Amino acid sequence: MLSKTTSDKLQILEQKNAEALQGGGEKRIASQHKKGKLTARERVELLLDEGSFEEIGKFVMHRCKDFGLDKEYYLGDGVITGYGTISGRLVYVFAQDFTVFGGSLSETYAEKICKIMDMAMKNGAPVIGLNDSGGARIQEGVNSLAGYADIFYRNTLASGVIPQISAIMGPCAGGAVYSPALTDFIMMVENTSYMFVTGPNVVKTVTHEDVTSEELGGAMTHATKSGVTHFVSANEVQCINDIKRLFSYIPSNCEEQPPFADYESDGNEKRPEITKIIPDNPNQPYDMREIIEQITDTDSFFEVHKNYAENIVVGFARIGGRSVGIVGNQPAVLAGVLDINASIKGARFVRFCDCFNIPLLVLEDVPGFLPGTDQEWHGIIMHGAKLLYALSEATVPRITVITRKAYGGAYCVMNSKHIGADMNYAFPTAEIAVMGAAGAAEIIFKREIDAAENPKAALQEKVDDYTEKFANPYKAAHRGYIDEVIDPADTRAKLIKAFKMLENKVDTLPRKKHGNIPL
Ligand code: HXC
Repeated sequence: MLSKTTSDKLQILEQKNAEALQGGGEKRIASQHKKGKLTARERVELLLDEGSFEEIGKFVMHRCKDFGLDKEYYLGDGVITGYGTISGRLVYVFAQDFTVFGGSLSETYAEKICKIMDMAMKNGAPVIGLNDSGGARIQEGVNSLAGYADIFYRNTLASGVIPQISAIMGPCAGGAVYSPALTDFIMMVENTSYMFVTGPNVVKTVTHEDVTSEELGGAMTHATKSGVTHFVSANEVQCINDIKRLFSYIPSNCEEQPPFADYESDGNEKRPEITKIIPDNPNQPYDMREIIEQITDTDSFFEVHKNYAENIVVGFARIGGRSVGIVGNQPAVLAGVLDINASIKGARFVRFCDCFNIPLLVLEDVPGFLPGTDQEWHGIIMHGAKLLYALSEATVPRITVITRKAYGGAYCVMNSKHIGADMNYAFPTAEIAVMGAAGAAEIIFKREIDAAENPKAALQEKVDDYTEKFANPYKAAHRGYIDEVIDPADTRAKLIKAFKMLENKVDTLPRKKHGNIPL
């Protein structure tokens, strides 16, 4: 029998390539589309620069012989892995293919993911995971669990070295949720994605609660209630665009600086509108996002955790083309008070920025920590300390602008000079004190007020006195805790200069194995 010619062999390769592109077959692809979902390959195409995707492990097949799997093989085994570019920058990607065994994870599938994670670590580029999977491949038993653990281990080692981004575009349940949870950012798609440790049926059995998948672990649930997801997208295309936008603010690894972007400027960086945003009455709310809009490059603010703990605003932006992470109290929600969720949200964002050399801007208007049994019993002491710890240990350039209230412990926490901020500015509207004037007067002048003929008038007099003395930025400026009291209109210009001044900042922490953040 004649051996095969080169042309025959090329044909075999072509057939295999065509077969791999088919995933689980036409019927399952059609069913995927019917659910309003793209296929794994379509997602990769959308994510990466045109023609840049290079696949790795296209012909990998599972090794399981049990439960009929010896008769069912798909080239690639349910996950597409490889590398490509986004805006010319290298990224590694894996996309779970729901059309093959429901995207379930086998031993070989896990090996494929681990292979690109190892390459990403050696070459200093992010890993983007597009998740759509029924979890552990049930037929493989512990081999599948081992595969998950291999991935979790790599997620942990890669944390802080390369950015890791997880998009959830279908089911993500059981222990499988812990790989995304270990990554830096989670994105979910409304109506087609869900994440939970145990599904509605198990919940019903154990706790007798009736709950749908969407209520238990849908995108909005995790965006508003649990804070598990950082972003929610209306559809998959928007989700993929969000990944690209996020990537534009962050460097490829912890040794790199974030990308610099061009920005339009007529040379006039004055923003007089800022003065109009803060109301004369210190107890009236305003939206910190409006201040952010004024001081950042046009349309550059990309909010993270938008629907969670809305009393603090965090996100990426550009100031004079420079990528910065912004943490701002939000006076429009709960007066911008710091509570447990806000502290956790802020701390996690600060730590991400510090891992990846993204300078921090803190915009402060905070009346303090939220009082009450609920907060105390759930550990506001420990959780509030997270934000304090995260900011204290951040070595990136750090600037604070106090727009209005900076009261009590929250003054210390919100990037004060004392915990290592590089530049501290205050508006003339700033009030830097142990507490609000009314509370302070009631405590320190209690006896005098009680003894007065007209206690109400006496209280008011003391409140005015305290306000006069402390409800301003000048005491702190006299001490040097505030570097400059600025006209709000000059904020943007000041920030552009100060971040440039700080761009070569070198700061190190004391030698240690690792710190012990109050988890
Ligand atoms: C093997 C699986 C599978 C799995 C789905 N399939 N999940 N095969 N292992 N885990 C297969 C189905 O048999 C089916 O094959 C195809 O994928 C599509 O599944 P459908 O059920 O038809 O799809 P749909 O109705 O959309 O439902 C999707 C689903 C459901 C909700 C994900 O399939 C499901 O509940 N699967 C089981 C989920 C699960 O219990 N996984 C284990 C969790 S424990 P055909 O041939 O018909 O196309 C776990 C532990 C991880 O993951 C621990 C890590 C530490």
